[in-house]
Formats: sequence, structure tokens, C-alpha cells
Amino acid sequence: MKKRAFNFAAGPATLPYEVLEASAAALLDFQGKGFGIAECSHRGKEFDAVLDETIARCRSLLQIPDTHDVLFLQGGATQQFALIPMNFLNGVAEYVITGEWSKKAADTAKGIAPDKVKVIASGESTGFDRHPVGWTADPNAAYLHICSNETVHGNRFVEWPKHPTLMVDASSEIMSRPHPIARTAMVYGGAQKNLGPAGLVLIIVRKDLYDRIGKSVPKIFNYKVHADAKSCLNTPPTFGVYVLLETFRWMERQGGLAAIEKRNADKAKLIYDAIDGSGGFYKGTVADPAVRSHMNITFKLPSEELTDKFLKEATSKSMLALKGYRTVGGIRASVYNGMPVEGCQALADHMREFMKANG
Ligand SMILES: Cc1ncc(COP(=O)(O)O)c(C=O)c1O
Repeated sequence: MKKRAFNFAAGPATLPYEVLEASAAALLDFQGKGFGIAECSHRGKEFDAVLDETIARCRSLLQIPDTHDVLFLQGGATQQFALIPMNFLNGVAEYVITGEWSKKAADTAKGIAPDKVKVIASGESTGFDRHPVGWTADPNAAYLHICSNETVHGNRFVEWPKHPTLMVDASSEIMSRPHPIARTAMVYGGAQKNLGPAGLVLIIVRKDLYDRIGKSVPKIFNYKVHADAKSCLNTPPTFGVYVLLETFRWMERQGGLAAIEKRNADKAKLIYDAIDGSGGFYKGTVADPAVRSHMNITFKLPSEELTDKFLKEATSKSMLALKGYRTVGGIRASVYNGMPVEGCQALADHMREFMKANG
């Protein structure tokens, strides 16, 4: 394998090299057929077999029961912010806001049904540096929406809350660990962090929700119509689905999601230990260690100058895309499934060396 940079981008993000290699080969020639996987009909037998296998592996990895459908659509996670209220908002929906993305989801829903969206808790007053506490959702609400891992602010729900109709934007932690699908109404995530290239969103949705969909919802925005068409109402992101298949095969070779969760926890610990052991030189932007993300690790240095120097020196050591999101600043290390342990170790080493020289 050619030497690769350690790419800490928040998404699109680094993917396992084995996945890229297998996908690149299939892009050039699919199973020796003389055409690539991105060059055949989404209604032909080749892609249909890919689709079936991808759904089957997804079901097996996440232990998805028959009560739920698996969809591969376009439009990203952002489109689901609108489609969820368009399809499923009968009554009042509740939103918990823990950062940039759950806020966007709530704002989008408010734009569609201003009187039917209730924000029941928000961490905004403390800059999303901890989760809001002391809230309870109404079990009779149309649904409860959360973002399980906030990519910008670096916090997560260690355990997803319990609610009869829980909707989860899991974009930046999807399949980084097992998820409680059976007790969740809908889980969705853009592929471009843990799963594959941008342009595809994985949706797992409980079928009984389809009863709520009104006649006025256009077919292209209707989850049931997509499910009935096995994600082929129109042309799905076929190459993205193929990469997903290779990612699922890779996940199985890693030992499945429980093994991946353990590896991700070990990776995150390497960096959090460097923060916690720095005597305050590095400050995590999440004040409550209990909700620190294992995917997006955010911290600050004592000054802008030192931050710039840290980034420059990291780049010279082939550690890329560590600049924090513009509203938060500092450093953000995104360490999705595709980031090897060595990348996290290299960053932790850089942090210690940099502090020694500049602290
Ligand atoms: C948690 C979360 N939700 C939603 C999105 C938006 O995803 P997309 O660009 O696929 O619409 C992102 C993108 O980074 C995200 O991190």
C-alpha cells in the first residue's frame, strides 16, 4: 500500500484502504464482465444482486428486525430534516438540541410546521459544551428527534434515549458501534463519514410509521414509496451503494460492530489522554467528559498563534484536516471507523511533543 496521510477530516472522510482498493477495482471492471459497477443499470441483475447483498449485510451487522426497512437514498442527512416532518409529523414533535446539527434539524421542521415543533431541551446557553439535563419527552409526541453525535461540538449520547418514536440523526457515528435499532423508529446518516462516499444516505425506518404519510407528500419524498421500490424509485447512488457493500464486508472482517466500538474507544482514549494529561495546555471543548464523542474530538490550545503552529507542524507530519469548525475554532480530530489506531497514536505523540516545545 502506498503511504497514506492521516486524514482527520470531518466528512467526506478517510475510508479503509481495503474498501477503496476493492471499490476501485469494481469501478473499472465488475466481476470480469467488461464494465464497471457505476456503468450498469440500477434495474439490471448485477446491481440488484449488489443491492440485496448490501441490505442483507446491513441487517446482519446492525441486527435490524423485519419491522424496519433499509433504504439507500440521495439528498443526504439534511434532506431527512425536512422529510421526517413531511412524512411523520402528526401531532407535536419534540426536539432535543445538543449542537449545530440537531439545531438545524429543529429549525427545518419549524419551517415546515411552526406550531407543531417543540424544543424540549437545548444546550445552546453553554455553547453545547454539555448535554442539557432534566428533560423528559412526552411518550405521546409524534416523535422525539435527537442527533446522537454532534460532529461540530464533539458530544454524543452514550445511550440513545428511550422513546416509542425515536428519530436519530446518527450521521457522524453511524455503525461506529452497535445501535438499538429495534427500539428506534428511524435512524439515518450520510455515508460520507463512516460508510462511503458522499451522495448516499442510509435510512433505517420502522414500517408502521408509513400509516402516517399524507396523500399530499410527493412520491419522491415519500419513505413508503421508496421502500416499496427497494430504493430504486429513481436512480439510486449506485457506486455509493457498492462502496457501502465493501465497507460492510470490511466491518465483518473487523469482527462486527462490537469489535469496531472497542477499537474506536481505544483510539479516542489515546487523544483524550493527551488532552487530560496536558495540565490544561489542551482544553477539551466538551466540559462534561461523560458525553465526549468517540468520533469527533474537539479541543483548544492557549492561543490562535499556537493553534496555527500546531496545525502547520501536524500537516508537515502528514496529519491533515485538523482545523476546528469555524464556529468552535481550535482543533477537531475526526477519527471515524476508517482512521487507523496509528493515526490517533501519531496525533497524541504530536500533541505531547508540541506541548513540550511550546508549553
Ligand atoms: C450530524 C450531522 N447531521 C447532518 C449532516 C448533514 O449531512 P449531509 O451533508 O449529508 O446533508 C452532517 C454533516 O456533516 C452531520 O455531521
